[in-house]
Amino acid sequence: MQANVIAQPVAYELPDLPYSLGALEPYVSGETLEYHWGKHHRGYVNRLNDLVRGTDLAGQPLDELVKQAKGATFNNAAQAWNHAFYWKCLTPHGPSRPSSRVAAAIEKRFGSFESFKGLFARTATGKFGSGWIWLVRNAEGTLFVEATDDAGNPLADGRTPLLTCDVWEHAYYLDYRNDRAAYVDAFWRIVDWDFVERNFSAAEKARNK
Ligand code: FE2
Repeated sequence: MQANVIAQPVAYELPDLPYSLGALEPYVSGETLEYHWGKHHRGYVNRLNDLVRGTDLAGQPLDELVKQAKGATFNNAAQAWNHAFYWKCLTPHGPSRPSSRVAAAIEKRFGSFESFKGLFARTATGKFGSGWIWLVRNAEGTLFVEATDDAGNPLADGRTPLLTCDVWEHAYYLDYRNDRAAYVDAFWRIVDWDFVERNFSAAEKARNK
């Protein structure tokens, strides 16, 4: 008989990559994924577990931590969330352009797919220091391109992420050295527009509830 067993909240886990380490080559190398996912992302998850163990925050859904936590707990929770989302934004097999619904929303807001890509790329190359570039949808259904600093996540400000690009140097330095623009060029070759479509539909459904 077991006695004095106290249920512990389930620890946060490093999610599996949706593809093999070498699947995104030549755009993102297996070596980059080995370090980016296997070391950096794993490190955020491990530090988050250390930070929340034994506190009221342990066991909270990750997106709730992103919305509510502060300081180091926010930083590690948001980096855990952002990276899990970023891996899903990438695929070796996706269509090279968005579906008709996302394409229409992008054209309505930004004029054309090409002008959206230009704005996103300029936002990425113009971002000073580490952070993330996002396509988001606000509560009214309007799309925006925005940059967040460090671990920043639009969920914390009530906007829904549809797509993200990690512009921390650890995302591209092994493959592109200091050439962030070349990394962003390559990013377009591996975006999973089906995932963006699912995020767009889920946001629309949530809005219409
Ligand atoms: Fe990263």
